[in-house]
Amino acid sequence: MSRITETSDQWWKTAVIYCLDIETFFDSDGDGVGDVAGVVERIDYLAELGVTCLWLMPFYPTPDRDDGYDVTDFYGVDARLGTHGDVVELIRTAKDRGMRVIADLLINHTSDQHPWFKAARRSTDNPFRNHYVWRADTPPDTSDMAVFPDQEEGIWTFDEKTEEWYLHHFYSHQPDLNVANPKVRDEIMKTIGFWLEVGVDGFRVDAVPFFLEDVGMTGEDADAMAEPHEHLRNIRAFLSRRRGDAVLLGEVNVPHEEQVKYFGDGHQLHMMFDFITMQKMYLALARGDARPLAEALLARPEIPEDCQWATFVRNHDELTLDKLTEEERAEVFAAFGPEERMQIYGRGLKRRVPPMVDGDPRRVRLVYSLLFALPGTPSLFYGEEIGMGEDLEAEGRMAVRTPMQWSPEKNGGFSTAPPSRLFARPVPGGYGPEFVNASDQMRDPDSLWNFVRRLIQIYRSHPELGRGSLTVLEQPHPEVLAHQVSWEGRVVVAVHNLGGEARTVSLRPDVPTGSVLESLLVQEEYEVGDGALELTLDGYGYRWFHVHHPGRRRLP
Ligand code: NOJ
Repeated sequence: MSRITETSDQWWKTAVIYCLDIETFFDSDGDGVGDVAGVVERIDYLAELGVTCLWLMPFYPTPDRDDGYDVTDFYGVDARLGTHGDVVELIRTAKDRGMRVIADLLINHTSDQHPWFKAARRSTDNPFRNHYVWRADTPPDTSDMAVFPDQEEGIWTFDEKTEEWYLHHFYSHQPDLNVANPKVRDEIMKTIGFWLEVGVDGFRVDAVPFFLEDVGMTGEDADAMAEPHEHLRNIRAFLSRRRGDAVLLGEVNVPHEEQVKYFGDGHQLHMMFDFITMQKMYLALARGDARPLAEALLARPEIPEDCQWATFVRNHDELTLDKLTEEERAEVFAAFGPEERMQIYGRGLKRRVPPMVDGDPRRVRLVYSLLFALPGTPSLFYGEEIGMGEDLEAEGRMAVRTPMQWSPEKNGGFSTAPPSRLFARPVPGGYGPEFVNASDQMRDPDSLWNFVRRLIQIYRSHPELGRGSLTVLEQPHPEVLAHQVSWEGRVVVAVHNLGGEARTVSLRPDVPTGSVLESLLVQEEYEVGDGALELTLDGYGYRWFHVHHPGRRRLP
């Protein structure tokens, strides 16, 4: 079997993921809220951009106190967004355009409005009581464990009715499920089975470390959680039995060494976001010194052959910097979000990339060039491809969850509803739809949209970027990252200058003498001889090369 055929079995290793919230993407019926039918209407936009995998943020019934991450029915569809029929049409239409679809899987908690929790809090002997985690004694101070410290004082909340405390790692309106309970486990499997049957190709698994954490369970629950990763292994085994090519992409923001446990010899999560490299990239950008980024990449632990890192520079949450030291975080804050209103939870930023770099197109493009050049599977958050900004006046993380900006028209072309009926206003000011929108950029060959589209094309035609191994190439400048990614004789070499001054870089790619380095973004080529190659990069400049080996018949 040719190794290139593996790119279809392990499609997720060379996918381009695009995360969108149905609510914010496109409103097809003019009620002010985006809907599933709206995503269908915009499917060709995504196909044209080159997206190969849609990640749908939660679209389940919800009181919407955590933007849909608080679910009242795992099997349902939020009526504001559409119906099961609409979801099936979306998946089918996406498939026709060569796109897979993954959905958020929320198995750490439910909403407190979920019928299970409503029943559970009726009495301590209610049959649903054990669907959640309770304690009778007063908990210790857990304020340092609250994920949203601006809203919660700890991870246990007292229930007045039954006079016990229930566990919630996130908001107190999101009680944690007791995953030690076999009935809860069965329900999780059924949920996975249900959505696979509807047609999804896998899941982005929310909050993984939280539901495997030891919270001091007792009795049978403690026995069931004695080996917590068994739960994840069971989920994976079930998923793979039902659909061999389905994927689990986990949200696991822990140090690299600990992440390895969640890959579990290739029998747990297929993929995890690389939060560490993302954070170190911002440190590197803030310093204009590529070394923290190179160090993070080189410190990525070995992972099993059937596993993969997902790379990203922005997601739907705060841009978290929690894994940096306090001093490092202060450097990133000073460079990219110096005002308090730009920061959140003491650990992150409420901002999107372009305003962080003062709209400097060189730096915006540098960031996206890195995203696609670093080894892994790149994941975009809607609106990044056109350089949307944030609404700092919006509450918390909603700052980056504003309506997609389609055109310079009313409501940015997102909705025909009166502006007062929109679920959220479009970004105001210089990053608003009048200046930043998809339709203008699609027509402009020099736009960010066309740049990202080109990067996606290059990424897709160079599977080594998803599957290959990394070499950081020696060169003299700390501002510069020069790296090569190689797989099965295929090689991409990329050079990025994180500093504002031009640099001449001399480097020796690890390729046979006589190979030709052909530039992928501009017209130039270099033949590799005995000496080092000399390249001059502008400030914040970047170059990508595709390597032709002598005698190989490769297309550019
Ligand atoms: C992680 C999600 O990314 C975030 O948006 C959410 O608030 C928490 N999990 C709780 O579900």
